[in-house]
Amino acid sequence: MCGIVGILGREPVAPSLIEALRRLEYRGYDSAGVATLEDGRLTRQRASGKLRNLEEKLAGAPLKGTIGIGHTRWATHGRPNEINAHPHANENVAVVHNGIIENFRELREELTKKGHVFVTQTDSEAVAHLVADFMREGATPQTAVASTLTRLKGAFALVFLFDGQDDLLIGARRGSPLAVGFGDGGAYLGSDALALAPFAREITYLEEDDWVVLTREKATFHNAAGNIVERPKRPLQAGSLMVDKGHFRHYMAKEMHEQPEVVGRTLAHYLDLASGTVRLPFELGFDAKALSRVTISACGTAFYAGLLARYWLERFARLSVDIDIASEFRYRESPLPEKGLMIVVSQSGETADTLAALRYARLQGQHILSIVNVETSTIARESDTVAHTLAGPEIGVASTKAFTCQLAVFACLALALGKARGVLSEKQERALVAELIATPGLMAEVLKDEARVEPVARDVARATSVLYLGRGPSYPLALEGALKLKELSYIHAEGYAAGELKHGPIALIDFAMPVIVLAPHDASLEKTVSNLQEVAARGGHLILVGPQSAKTAAAVELAGFIEMPETAAGPFAALVYALPAQLLAYHVAVFMGKDVDQPRNLAKSVTVE
Ligand code: G6P
Repeated sequence: MCGIVGILGREPVAPSLIEALRRLEYRGYDSAGVATLEDGRLTRQRASGKLRNLEEKLAGAPLKGTIGIGHTRWATHGRPNEINAHPHANENVAVVHNGIIENFRELREELTKKGHVFVTQTDSEAVAHLVADFMREGATPQTAVASTLTRLKGAFALVFLFDGQDDLLIGARRGSPLAVGFGDGGAYLGSDALALAPFAREITYLEEDDWVVLTREKATFHNAAGNIVERPKRPLQAGSLMVDKGHFRHYMAKEMHEQPEVVGRTLAHYLDLASGTVRLPFELGFDAKALSRVTISACGTAFYAGLLARYWLERFARLSVDIDIASEFRYRESPLPEKGLMIVVSQSGETADTLAALRYARLQGQHILSIVNVETSTIARESDTVAHTLAGPEIGVASTKAFTCQLAVFACLALALGKARGVLSEKQERALVAELIATPGLMAEVLKDEARVEPVARDVARATSVLYLGRGPSYPLALEGALKLKELSYIHAEGYAAGELKHGPIALIDFAMPVIVLAPHDASLEKTVSNLQEVAARGGHLILVGPQSAKTAAAVELAGFIEMPETAAGPFAALVYALPAQLLAYHVAVFMGKDVDQPRNLAKSVTVE
């Protein structure tokens, strides 16, 4: 996650760019840079390390332009040095970028063949060259950006500054946030309201796939199809809090929409995106080859993340997994293997039962690895190794972005253990990492089509009981989907392994009870399709969450269909399929007028037994 800003001002903008970057430094501080136009020509200044290094450089050699862009970096591709610092520029354009350009290697190859010279190891530089390439073929800045956006894969936000254009900035978003602000001093673009708070009185968030042409007087918003669209302005309070709802109605909505960004950021922490391999930011601290078994314990949604990870740890690291909810595990007196590994999972890092499970494992001489979102928490402090989920503060009681970040960490950990145990070849590792890197982009795709969930939600809201079915990694997701629905809407819901349908829940099937089937395109799709048919044959109320091919294969009458991308991250599809489950529960609750962020009787952090 990086911070980006752009200013069209009346005075030299470098000091304001620095002020905005200081407010964005929480998003990263590996390096920083600004670019402005002086006498119409692009000039830039960059420095590795914290923002103060850039400030010192600017004090010695000020930039005088009244239009500019700035960036504070949290390195994903390429080392955090000055060469790799943003803005990236050529003679046509300078760009600042937040997020991941998944297909940068292909673009780099293609553009190098056309004579573009790459000087950095970043994915972002490919964007600057691509825009320049279109402009050299005669495109205007606007058409060059529009064409560039159609070529980019991934989740990102971008701001462009053009040589010779001193009243023009262009911003674009897909999966990562970007906002436009207007104030007395000019027009602004920034990653969040916090960056713009000192300057702007009103703010407009770009919607998914929007791009905006900004001059000092006017912001013209375009949607993905290139059509001009209106986007609402909202007043911005000075001193705007870091944790606000943005333009969302609920924290939960905002947190669901942050997932492409925070999952991308978490993956970047555990993978080497440039080489497409796993690189944990810590030493394992135990002998992975000598491990015979892993124990996992957690509560609620975090428990389901562990249940899902079992499939990955067994398959990719050939490790058997014992998993239990913490309130049971702590009293089971389970004998744990000597020098074994205990993984505890917790968003808050304070859940009393999870902490007790950790302490039991400690007494049993286990190496304790915790996957936590709050790094300063008790669980983190009492662990041998802390694997941080970089989800940022989660306010909505129902966990969403912390869950998908837990899955991202688990996926990387399973691959790292597979590698350390000699199970995964380098080729397999790269193929699996490529699937993981694709997840933020796929998540953004799903979130863009959120409206498709609404009619299904309206239908589910009429039910008194709902059944979720899934196989393999979709089984824990079925449990999580059911948990989300009951937490938020108070409708009774159950998750079941699809294969277990015939051993009990099939007796419940009737025209009224929605049966929600999670059916990603994986090895068990055929079997799940059979379960769809079993439900249909009994006049069941079927809702399919899956690709078009699953719908075609099932060839049954559906009461609802949430279409998913055809190929969704292979064995890591759960990261993408978590989103429709969350969105559905959210929209059912909104439709029923429930308190989405603070459902009755629940608490975000449960520090009692
Ligand atoms: C509560 C929350 C859940 C959460 C669970 C575990 O029940 O409502 O959303 O999954 O606690 O919390 P933790 O902070 O340990 O992940």
